[in-house]
Amino acid sequence: MLNDRMQDALNEQINAELYSSYLYMSMVAYFDSLNLVGASHWMRVQAQEEMAHVVKFFDFISERGGRVILKPIAGPPTEWDSPLDAFEETYRHECEVTGLVNTLVDLAIELSDHATNNMLQWFVSEQVEEESSADAVVQQLKLIGSDGHGLFIIDRELSQRALPQTTGTGAAAGA
Ligand code: FEO
Repeated sequence: MLNDRMQDALNEQINAELYSSYLYMSMVAYFDSLNLVGASHWMRVQAQEEMAHVVKFFDFISERGGRVILKPIAGPPTEWDSPLDAFEETYRHECEVTGLVNTLVDLAIELSDHATNNMLQWFVSEQVEEESSADAVVQQLKLIGSDGHGLFIIDRELSQRALPQTTGTGAAAGA
């Protein structure tokens, strides 16, 4: 049975993951408007991964006999100054999510909730990957600066990002 404080915190995290998906779908629309199909695809995959994170928390709460409470999702930004600006926001956002996950781990430890702590360790590893993949694109975009040909090459590479794999439980195994 989930402690009430832990349940509330996990429900807040579901909201944060939903916002993440919403944010990245907004970036899909932004990149579509620029005809950058690779960046659009990359963000679509990112948004799908966030929904997989939602399901992972959702299912965990239910399996522990808790109650999922969905809350309003804040509206995301809709415009960015440049592709670099959008990916820099992605990186900053993932760093914030890492902080949220770490706070959840702190609470699980405080409550001696080993099952939740164990589940959260997947997200601890996941956030290393999430930060790294966003930062890699930021660094590439910084390197090319305003070189349109370089942007074309990067966009083609971003189109290669694989879709997330799913497990039999509905929780994602993707990065
Ligand atoms: Fe769900 Fe990108 O962290």
